[in-house]
Amino acid sequence: MARTPLICGNWKMNLGPHAARDLARAIVHGLPEVPFGVAMAVCPSTPCLQAVLDEIRVFDRLEGGAQDCHAALSGAHTGDTSVEALRELGCAYVIVGHSERRADHAESDATVKAKAATAQAAGLTPIVCVGETLAQREAGEAEAVVAAQVKGSLPDGVAGDGVEGHGVVVAYEPVWAIGTGKVASPADVDAMHRAIRATLAGMMADADKVRLLYGGSVKPENAAELLALDDVDGALVGGASLKADSFLAIAKAAKTTG
Ligand code: 13P
Repeated sequence: MARTPLICGNWKMNLGPHAARDLARAIVHGLPEVPFGVAMAVCPSTPCLQAVLDEIRVFDRLEGGAQDCHAALSGAHTGDTSVEALRELGCAYVIVGHSERRADHAESDATVKAKAATAQAAGLTPIVCVGETLAQREAGEAEAVVAAQVKGSLPDGVAGDGVEGHGVVVAYEPVWAIGTGKVASPADVDAMHRAIRATLAGMMADADKVRLLYGGSVKPENAAELLALDDVDGALVGGASLKADSFLAIAKAAKTTG
């Protein structure tokens, strides 16, 4: 099953609007070097979304996304962000359930599932993050933990993002590999992505259409071997997405379907 790889930058709580716009501009400048058949997106922090989306709107190869949303469409939720507002800004994606939010804001699978469902209903594609801690991996629980997260965090009746317009993207991000420079081995990533695909197959008919991204210390030096794996359909990139050169180099390392 040929799935278009997606290389997505998660800029986290870095950059102000001016620097974010400049980075978006530099990425757009380098896009002609990235093969067609590689989809690209960047997810700036909320105060930077407008500046970034204004910069990239005309370049449909680079899409924008947010890093979180609320499960409600609107209402009395001070400090939160609604999917309707994100859609109006022109976002295509929203990351939900990143391990930093699960940890910092005690987000449960049920919360993540509700956010993903609201995003999907509003026409955004949720990028649902899952991943085990080091302690869970060392206890031999990684696959069971991730399977439970996938079952608990995806909306009901979900489809791959190539299906019925708006589906879901799943990002496997082992917590111990995020921002640590410790990348999971290709063998571990391969095994986990196959396991996630099998879990998805028990949940939906179109499991082979769901893009599975790997995230956790992806860099130009390790991108090609990770992105070459059968069930790795792209990357969710933190630190290395904050420089246009390294982000573009990762995108150029993606296998293309054409
Ligand atoms: P790093 O690439 O900085 O490890 O971050 C990964 C991540 O959390 C992307 O969402």
